[in-house]
Amino acid sequence: MQRGAVTAGYKADRETVVKILNEALATEIVCVLRYKHHHYMASGIHAQSVAAEFLEHANEEQLHADQIAERITQLDGSPNFSPEGMLTRSHSEYVEGSSLVEMIEEDLVAERIAIDSYREIVEYLGNDDITTRRIMEQILAKEEEHAEDLKTLLEELGKKGEPAAESLKKAEGKKAEMRH
Ligand SMILES: [Fe+2]
Ligand SMILES: [Fe+2]
Repeated sequence: MQRGAVTAGYKADRETVVKILNEALATEIVCVLRYKHHHYMASGIHAQSVAAEFLEHANEEQLHADQIAERITQLDGSPNFSPEGMLTRSHSEYVEGSSLVEMIEEDLVAERIAIDSYREIVEYLGNDDITTRRIMEQILAKEEEHAEDLKTLLEELGKKGEPAAESLKKAEGKKAEMRH
């Protein structure tokens, strides 16, 4: 097969980078699905503006998924879109939440997990794969914006900007898992 973007000068471990990117891809797809669910389920007096924000985030996560999938193919890998094992590959969880506030809190937890995971990926890539690092840096910046948006929404709804204790515990557990 003809080689494309991967030249002899490529310094990273290609297979590891593809694996890491497939985990990020699963994370993005789970986020698309969770935001879509929240978009359609948002109800109550504040529902309209919040539902619009959920949809905007869903669309941006979809863009991230596409950027990541494209980079995987440039690295001669195969983007894993299989529903099987999607949640195991994903860093963040799919939690529905039963109220508007709970939905926003769950989304904030998921964004914060993505932020930590992507920061680790950027650090891991360093100067070994600059293109992938740049893509992940752009996505990381967007996730930080998302987290800020959600924090603001919670504040507007009269809640503190920190995720609920239960969700935070789950997030910490998930992070501890990741390190192993
Ligand atoms: Fe994203
Ligand atoms: Fe996000």
